[in-house]
Amino acid sequence: MPRYPVSVPRSLDDLGADWWREGVLYQIYPRSFQDSNGDGVGDLRGIINRLDHLNGCDDSLGIDGIWISPFYPSPMADFGYDVADYVAVDPVFGNLADFDDLVAAAHDRGIRVIVDLVPNHTSDRHPWFLESRAKRTNPKRDWYVWADPKPDGSPPNNWRSSFVRRQVSAWTFDEPTGQYYLHSFLPEQPDLNWWNEDVRRAFDDILRFWLDRGVDGFRIDVAHRLARDPELRDNPDFGLAPGEPLRSWTDEQAPRDEDWPEIHAILRRFRGILDEYEARMAIGEVWILDPRRMVGYYGQNDDELNLAFNFAFLRAPWSAEAFRAETELFESLLPDSAWPDYTLSNHDNPRHVSRYAPEGDLERGRRRARLAALMLLTLRGTPFLYQGEEIGMADGPVPPDRVVDVAGRDPARTPMQWDASPRGGFTTGDPWLPINRETATVNVAAQRGDRTSMFELYRSLIRIRKASPALRRGSFRSLADSPPHVFAYTRAIDSECWLIALNFADNPRRVSIAELGRDRLQVGLSTDPARSPGDVLDGDAIDLGPNEGLLISVAGSSPPS
Ligand code: NOJ
Repeated sequence: MPRYPVSVPRSLDDLGADWWREGVLYQIYPRSFQDSNGDGVGDLRGIINRLDHLNGCDDSLGIDGIWISPFYPSPMADFGYDVADYVAVDPVFGNLADFDDLVAAAHDRGIRVIVDLVPNHTSDRHPWFLESRAKRTNPKRDWYVWADPKPDGSPPNNWRSSFVRRQVSAWTFDEPTGQYYLHSFLPEQPDLNWWNEDVRRAFDDILRFWLDRGVDGFRIDVAHRLARDPELRDNPDFGLAPGEPLRSWTDEQAPRDEDWPEIHAILRRFRGILDEYEARMAIGEVWILDPRRMVGYYGQNDDELNLAFNFAFLRAPWSAEAFRAETELFESLLPDSAWPDYTLSNHDNPRHVSRYAPEGDLERGRRRARLAALMLLTLRGTPFLYQGEEIGMADGPVPPDRVVDVAGRDPARTPMQWDASPRGGFTTGDPWLPINRETATVNVAAQRGDRTSMFELYRSLIRIRKASPALRRGSFRSLADSPPHVFAYTRAIDSECWLIALNFADNPRRVSIAELGRDRLQVGLSTDPARSPGDVLDGDAIDLGPNEGLLISVAGSSPPS
């Protein structure tokens, strides 16, 4: 039985319908979280066994919801993002009974469960595609996007598949039926045809299947690609170098294979189903780099995605000005009803400790990651953590003969480092990806209870956030006259106010706080373990150490508007 010390808020009760706005959410990549049966691959039982790490105990992190990457039956060409059955569990991860137990055990600890929905494409082994491919006259033919070759036999248009390394046509020719089929990703991931009402109905049922099983929400894979030009016209020539992403476009020069207006109707349909249930949500992966277009996925009337993943921090260089600009832009573009969210790492990108490590200097990377954690957990918006960031995991080295992913993402997916043993407490078998040797020093067991550790920093920040209405839902305002390399902002509600000052520079910085006009500033938390919480700061300025972040409680007159 889990232990519930009164000091740990149980968010299922505490946050109610606002859990996804005010809670702290955490991504689990199930292959790499915890293996329970020694086959070297993480599974659902493994997640259950590790839930205490996340919430429910005195020394848990304090997580309110988990998003679990796909665990459905799959040939694993894209490690689960190629689904062969949307309403079952792949045997490598367990079975539906394990899933039901996981939902119950998570809810028991106040943890909501978000599952991954992959509606853009199926696996090429999905029975729908097998039927579709069998004959041109098969009733399922039109469930996918099929088109005749051009007269010279080449693909129907110039659309490209989006795995950067591949940069090849998004079309594969099917010899027996003489047509090409579309795949925005691997040929093993044929795109569904969302113009077909039967496809929409099939997904209505899939959503209901999981909602009826008690899931609290969906993370929607590649939401920005669900519908495309039904006439399959060429994309304009964007003049991009190979691998260079498309950053923005005008209506006249819009791509024809993504961000198609009809997508919004599909998302409204998903939202309609979610709203039939209580306190459910959808967060979409909207990999559109132009934030003006990305915010459109929240809908005009709060009727599409509850959240659209904001990936700006995954791309931002290590600079106070960059993070400040991204945050202010997002805040200014969001419709009033919409709620921001932030994320530093996920299973598709290098881990931020490694991204922030100049010349591979992980010590500095981790110092910066402490600052980033303070920022992530004090901005206005839902923070999404990626498993392992709470202990400062770096990308794991993966030798060429162990590479398994088509797009070079293995290093961000190496197994969770639970303890110092050679297999990191992840498995008793041969792990599917190498365990990072750093597990000898960077692991959960070593960090729990060590007040200088990354884990305890995250835990403290989450506790402070949970206890603070200002941090959970208060206003955000950045300080007008921060010096270069400093991002400073306030979070305030009623009479509660916090100042957050983040020094991105490798040397000390002084921040004027005259504009706050307060009479008492007290350190709530510093990313530098040498500075004690509770210190009172006097004067008109505060001094920040190199890469130091400070969370300061501001007492005095009413908060700035
Ligand atoms: C986005 C997912 O996060 C990624 O892992 C996957 O490869 C693609 N979508 C295709 O499903």
